[in-house]
Amino acid sequence: ESFPLEMHKVCIVQKLNLLPIEQRRIAIDEAGNNTFLLKNRDVYLDMLTDSGVNAMSDRQQAAMLVADDSYAGSETFFRLERVIQDIFGTRFFLPAHQGRACENIIAQVFVKPGTVVATNYHFTTTKAHVTLNGGSIEEIYKADALEITSDKPFKGDIDLEKLRALIQRQGAEQIAFVRIEAGTNLIGGQPVSLANMRDVHQLCQKHGIPLVLDASLLADNLYFNKLREPECRDMSLREITRTMAGLCDLIYFSARKLGCARGGGMCMNSEEIYKRIRDKIVLYEGFLTYGGMSVREIEAIAVGLEETMDMDMISQGPQFIRFMVEQLVEKGIPVITPPGGLGCHLDAGAFLPHLSQAQYPAGALAAALYLVSGVRGMERGTLSEQRNADGSERYSDMELLRLALPRRVFTMSQVKYAIDRIVWLYEHRALVGGLRFVEEPELLRFFFGRLAPT
Ligand code: F0G
Repeated sequence: ESFPLEMHKVCIVQKLNLLPIEQRRIAIDEAGNNTFLLKNRDVYLDMLTDSGVNAMSDRQQAAMLVADDSYAGSETFFRLERVIQDIFGTRFFLPAHQGRACENIIAQVFVKPGTVVATNYHFTTTKAHVTLNGGSIEEIYKADALEITSDKPFKGDIDLEKLRALIQRQGAEQIAFVRIEAGTNLIGGQPVSLANMRDVHQLCQKHGIPLVLDASLLADNLYFNKLREPECRDMSLREITRTMAGLCDLIYFSARKLGCARGGGMCMNSEEIYKRIRDKIVLYEGFLTYGGMSVREIEAIAVGLEETMDMDMISQGPQFIRFMVEQLVEKGIPVITPPGGLGCHLDAGAFLPHLSQAQYPAGALAAALYLVSGVRGMERGTLSEQRNADGSERYSDMELLRLALPRRVFTMSQVKYAIDRIVWLYEHRALVGGLRFVEEPELLRFFFGRLAPT
């Protein structure tokens, strides 16, 4: 059996609880069968997300102790600004408290009622902000992007023909911006090729449409560029990052993911875009030299971004995910391939074929897996969608249970435990019933909605 090696050692540990199943049953019941509402003390392996729960390095921890706390003009801010300028090669940097805060401001600045945001695939918070500002999302992924079983190296690529057709249909001025999401989250952490970004950039240039990169999952994407894309093989991670950044008008990221800390920010070369965004930062986030983040987090991001430019660091997530995916595939368990970044994605539709999409199979699988293992995953299916304007259910393209592997957090035996429990659940899948809402919030219902067995 071949397996990846950890290229780090454990310095600080945190105790975990593995409750007996009777107590887990009470916990998931009290959580309304929504894994977002579980208490972390009742969870053994928290695979809900990689957001804000990546392990920090000794150097990040050390940097946090020397942060310069001041409202305006903090030296800490300038340190991060220099790192961003160096890594992305952009002139301007603006801080925000997390990724969706960037999305709020970008949507306010660029999206006018009736305009369209074209993207390889939406993310939940992105879509919510675009629609809140009167725009709509048009997904222009390639035909095979949503195939669960695949050997396509870059399922996150944009379909240029679809983009051309959209520009023709809408007119370039009605397209608020084109958004490329690195490491495409909701289709299984699938990367975008540098070659595709270049093509999209050329088309956007020609029509004067801004190109925006969501770099939240850039670390995983870079790993796959390096591994799977011939032209990137001989480039350093820094060269790939700079080349990508040079193709975009605006880059934003959640530092809860990229940089293994918390916070976020945006960088750009255009002074005009910088100024339009700057005014909103002070309104919604805080002064320009902290943007809602603590200076300690800003220090941690600066070091975390530098560390991201190291193959030994960014390979950890994808390598462990690949191990998990390959083990599950061997057992015949339906899972997204090729293995991507962020986590391992179970195909809940195929896992629970006796449930219809109206019964939220991915949500049901999330609750069942917690019950049998204490492992907490995240529903990424119909439950994570918003209803149509007429109140009807909007069925998601895929019904996924995402098991995130936060970077450098879990050991091999913990990953093996999760695999073992998933295999058990698959063998007993007929036991899993569907769910229905008993409390359904209007916006982003998956966060705090409550459900009961159908
Ligand atoms: N963009 C992408 C691609 C993301 O994955 C996320 C967050 C955001 C933007 C928003 O950033 O959370 O800092 O406000 N993804 C988390 C997840 C929530 O669990 O996948 P944020």
